[in-house]
Amino acid sequence: MARLSAENRQKAEAIVAVYPERRSALIPLCHLAQAQDGYLTEEAMEDVAELCGVSAAEVRGTASFYDMLHTEPVGKYVIAVCTNIACMLAGAYEVLGHAEERLGIHSGQTTPDGLFTIEEAECLAGCDKAVCVQVNHRFFGPVDEEGFDRLVEDLAEGRLEGTVPSHGVLCRVERTVGLPAREPQAATGSAAAAPAPARQARRGGTS
Ligand code: FES
Repeated sequence: MARLSAENRQKAEAIVAVYPERRSALIPLCHLAQAQDGYLTEEAMEDVAELCGVSAAEVRGTASFYDMLHTEPVGKYVIAVCTNIACMLAGAYEVLGHAEERLGIHSGQTTPDGLFTIEEAECLAGCDKAVCVQVNHRFFGPVDEEGFDRLVEDLAEGRLEGTVPSHGVLCRVERTVGLPAREPQAATGSAAAAPAPARQARRGGTS
């Protein structure tokens, strides 16, 4: 179990400063905490709550609502198999069944060595790659049973280290340009007060 590290705490404060309302930073901070440990620890959720000015229950409620956020430990590689319509027609349930058999676990479970977690996913917006599979949010496809075997072998042997980031990592490149953050105004300050000097903010971007 871990709280946000000092470095991530600093990043979190910079992210919060970008938003007019602290609570608007809730989901970005959840992703930051998840990138640290692979999932949202109880302690990290308490830190996020404090930073956003909400209750820990609100953070947990938000984190447990979204598929991309995990509130329980997951494997090093989270493999999501889409079984929505385009992928289903291309054989997604056969691939998912094969995946469960190959790894010896059911969807939603993690292998005993902590290497793989399987998830059944709704449309991943990769319908042109049906059957579409995501590993730690990176797309693969079309994937059939043989392709799945090759994928897990490549992952287990570390051959995709440069392609697939650590579990929980949404963005490997942090944006350092864009909307500048304003210094938070005092609660009693006038709305017409001149804005404080902008400062550089670091926040997550696209990789
Ligand atoms: S239906 Fe599978 S990615 Fe859209």
